[in-house]
Amino acid sequence: MSFDVTKVRKDFPIFERTIRDGKKLVYLDSGATSQKPLSVIEAESNFYKFTNAAVHRGAHQLAEEATDSYEGARLKVANFLGAKEEEIVFTKNATESLNLVAYAMGNAQPGSRFALTSKDQIVVTEMEHHANLIPWQQLAARTGAELKWFEVTPEGRLDLSAINSIITENTKVVALTHQSNVLGTINPLEAITARAHEVGAVVVLDACQSVPHMPIDVKKLNVDFLAFSGHKALGPTGVGVLWSSVFEELPPFLFGGSMIETVTMTSATWAPAPRKFEAGVPNMAQAVGLGAALDYLTEIGMQSIFDHEVELTGYLMNGLLQIPELSIVGPQNTDARGGSVSFTVGHIHPHDLGQYLDSQGVAVRTGHHCAWPLTRKLGVPATTRASLYLYNDESDCDALFAAITGAQKYFA
Ligand code: ALA
Repeated sequence: MSFDVTKVRKDFPIFERTIRDGKKLVYLDSGATSQKPLSVIEAESNFYKFTNAAVHRGAHQLAEEATDSYEGARLKVANFLGAKEEEIVFTKNATESLNLVAYAMGNAQPGSRFALTSKDQIVVTEMEHHANLIPWQQLAARTGAELKWFEVTPEGRLDLSAINSIITENTKVVALTHQSNVLGTINPLEAITARAHEVGAVVVLDACQSVPHMPIDVKKLNVDFLAFSGHKALGPTGVGVLWSSVFEELPPFLFGGSMIETVTMTSATWAPAPRKFEAGVPNMAQAVGLGAALDYLTEIGMQSIFDHEVELTGYLMNGLLQIPELSIVGPQNTDARGGSVSFTVGHIHPHDLGQYLDSQGVAVRTGHHCAWPLTRKLGVPATTRASLYLYNDESDCDALFAAITGAQKYFA
């Protein structure tokens, strides 16, 4: 590990507080949302204190400074992803980013590469978060297109054995997660993107659980769209990102101020991307906060963060597997997997377990994790999930192990 977790934790004010009658906060729920360093909280608050004005509009100094801050944040996101500024659109969150693509495709003119008919197919996977499943179900319902999917093996990997019959000449979109929020599985993109592009389909990547945790260079991923949420990457809530290299060909989704070139009483034309996709006064302070978050991550180093999480995931899995009656749902080793580890413990219902862990100061997520078809496929009603980030260390895992053992005694 090449950074000091104790030092990192000091940057996050929330770790100064205690939980449930003075217990140390053991935060193992970063898959749901990450905690925020002071620099992010201050960047957002300073925008309101000193710079607040509507970007891209006013003829005054504040508007100029606000625009510079907002566009500066866009440049930071672009640099973080190895992208160009015009390829970055700010949204509310990854859910909105994914809906944007699906709705915009629904607005495509017949004949466009994005327009779908009943002859076309949309491909997803069984391990998608609802945010990267339901928008495609709905697009299929609106257009008559067929929805197909890759199945998940009992080990929690994608079954690619039928790739050529799942992605066919009729496939227009392949939408998948980079890293499962439930299983931690990191998906093998190369084979999928190669096949998708061979048939002329676009690839939409849900990178919510990968962008915050590993180095990403969009040019190397060979996808067409990539979505992530700011709040999972140390940034504020209310800001997400959609990256694409094919924005110019995609029609808008939301219409209104700022996204236009010209307007008459009966028609309008669109500004170039990214403005075409950012109707209305945007989430300026939140974008600036996200810029600060990416500065923070860059300063520590994404490779160091990834290495730390892989090492800690190994420690976490090892310790969990020593606990009688505990089963990890998903990959059983750290090969191509990140730090989201879901498990079941004997007959203890995950919701009861979650409550008991909380009573010990340990914050985890329980349930189907917004991926209900996946938990159903894996034959579990729900799981308990511990998800790691750069501010976690072995003492957090040890606290989890002790709390699970305590729960086993309590529910015996
Ligand atoms: N998608 C988030 C999670 O996995 C909320 O918890």
